[in-house]
Amino acid sequence: MRVAMTRLLLACALVSAAAHGGDFGRQNYVLRCAGCHLTDGSGHQANGIPDLRGSIGKFLYTPEGRAFLVQVPGTAHSPLSDQEVAEVLAWMLAAFSGNEMPPGAAPYTAAEVRALRTTAPVDVPGTRARVIDGLRAAGQDVR
Ligand code: HEC
Repeated sequence: MRVAMTRLLLACALVSAAAHGGDFGRQNYVLRCAGCHLTDGSGHQANGIPDLRGSIGKFLYTPEGRAFLVQVPGTAHSPLSDQEVAEVLAWMLAAFSGNEMPPGAAPYTAAEVRALRTTAPVDVPGTRARVIDGLRAAGQDVR
């Protein structure tokens, strides 16, 4: 009985930890990113804000694409901690582009985010164009 109860409590703790991770990702997206990207991720193409829907998951197909999602100014220069960036990206990828992600893609870690955001490129449009060429070569068509 006691063992069953302990297992139940442990399961509840794990479920609630997972739910909180997702919640903080969503909350930080709404607070820090949705002002430009909009709550549904549709952005504003005429103003240069890309549509994240059905698209950002494809970036995980190349190391340069994976890096780019962290290195764009909106992510790299956000006031979020490395861990919070990892969480917000996990939430965005699942919410806007879960079907396009490579199967079994590893989630971002805080250490990965830290390394990438400190080496962000200056020429963002040029970098994005090169990243998209690389993704096309890998069979992933990104607008
Ligand atoms: C002030 C407006 C603005 C805010 C706020 C903003 N972004 Fe962006 N984001 C952009 C623009 C513009 C682009 C296109 C690339 C560029 O010029 O930076 C972009 C591109 C991106 C991309 C790459 C998508 C692609 O297809 O190239 C990701 C990922 C991203 N932003 C994540 C975030 C995250 C995460 C946040 C919040 C922590 C955030 N952005 C906040 C304006 C913003």
